[in-house]
Amino acid sequence: MRIAMIGGGYVGLVSGACFAEFGINVAIVETNPARLSALREGRIPIYEPGLDALVASNSQAGRLTFGDDIASAVAGAEAVFIAVGTPPRNGDGAADMQYVHAAARQIAEALTGYAVIVTKSTVPVGSSRRIAEIIRQARPEADFDVASNPEFLREGSAIGDFMRPDRVIIGLDQTRPERASRAEDVLRRVYRPLSVIEAPLLFTGLETAELTKYASNSFLAMKISFINEMADLCETLGADVHDLARGMGLDDRIGRKFLQPGPGYGGSCFPKDTLALSRIAQEAHSACRLVETTVQVNEARKAGMAGRIIAACGGSVAGKTVAVLGLTFKPETDDMRESASIPILHRLAEAGADIRAYDPVGMAAAKSLLPESVTYCADALDAAQQADVLVVLTEWNIFRALSPVELSNRMRTRTIVDLRNIFDPAAMRAAGFTYESVGRP
Ligand code: NAD
Ligand code: UDX
Repeated sequence: MRIAMIGGGYVGLVSGACFAEFGINVAIVETNPARLSALREGRIPIYEPGLDALVASNSQAGRLTFGDDIASAVAGAEAVFIAVGTPPRNGDGAADMQYVHAAARQIAEALTGYAVIVTKSTVPVGSSRRIAEIIRQARPEADFDVASNPEFLREGSAIGDFMRPDRVIIGLDQTRPERASRAEDVLRRVYRPLSVIEAPLLFTGLETAELTKYASNSFLAMKISFINEMADLCETLGADVHDLARGMGLDDRIGRKFLQPGPGYGGSCFPKDTLALSRIAQEAHSACRLVETTVQVNEARKAGMAGRIIAACGGSVAGKTVAVLGLTFKPETDDMRESASIPILHRLAEAGADIRAYDPVGMAAAKSLLPESVTYCADALDAAQQADVLVVLTEWNIFRALSPVELSNRMRTRTIVDLRNIFDPAAMRAAGFTYESVGRP
């Protein structure tokens, strides 16, 4: 079987490599010259654990190829996946569909025989039908069907999520059952290896599949904002948010995951998808008030975190040294998109702080997004040199093992603001630190 993947970013590259691992021949089309030349030279342009080995073995086996020629990738492919970006449109937060529509036009020109055009990008409801229209307009004689197959992988654990998904959602045009069953047959063959692990394949209509992606991400974002608000309440009332989360999460109806409080969610998906769902509802003359509120609660939380750090420094950071551990929106990724570190560091720099930052893999991507005055350090202990406060922004495992004694030997003032709750409060206080975390007494 042969398939094409349009877009070789986080989703396209991981999905393409995993499909190749399933035994399928995958041609990835990437138009960004820097990304493409890296991939062709065997370098992985993003940081994702395990991806380099997976790409290398499948490239060597000849099942995974990279290029910028869409015509040769699409010719003979039974399925063409679209995995290009859908960033928020300036002004209103709706998904910017220009890259998806451009890809659809290019695919139309390249089609040689029957293929299923599958949207993996997160797209507004109605997009699959719009893609079909674009292709029909460009090539009225083309033989194709469209499908929506939203992707649920998380950065940092993307390969495991893809290979062992909780579910695969596939939306088809159920108003045309014969066409839908032809497309279903192709996609069942693409995902056949997952039947061994009994991962459910859920077939729905196109609109339902598109909406399920936004609903899932928005629900998870809402869950995080809920626990963040509970953390604030715990601080005021003297309760412990971790015990509270455990107490709630042991109820299967609630579930234990995504109840970790922090500085506010970031990343390339939750912020943009919650905004886009709000917009989708408004355009449908409806409303998702819970989701709109989640967006506001999260923005306010990220913006407010710098104030918390300033308060921990006695009301001013002017002329003080702030050591920052972790810059990416979560550990095990180099992705800085919508990271809480961005508003926090800008606010601290404006307030006159000298910032010494360290992140295991995110510093290169961080430089263009953070204040120019930030000093990038060799490791966590280097960042802590002469610091007046140490702030944990991303819970990289390597930070958990830091010795309180070594930190205290380097810092000027022993104050820690741990916004990911990675340290033991008792141990830090015993080592002489003024220690503040999230939602713990
Ligand atoms: P990305 O920006 O990392 O990758 C998109 C890639 O597509 C870029 O490398 C770009 O150069 C390339 N591209 C754009 N137009 C092209 C074209 N016409 N031909 C070939 N290549 C083209 O984006 P991403 O993070 O992989 O996200 C892609 C989509 O998947 C988005 O809709 C996103 O919402 C969704 N998604 C992302 C994640 C995630 O964790 N990043 C998870 C699930 C879903
Ligand atoms: C998310 C979805 O989980 C995934 O299904 C979708 O395909 C893409 O968007 P991702 O953004 O890679 O994945 O990471 P995720 O682990 O969901 O974390 C997103 C943000 O929420 C991070 O900033 C993280 O720190 C934060 N988070 C997550 C919390 O603050 N608390 C939690 O309990 C979980």
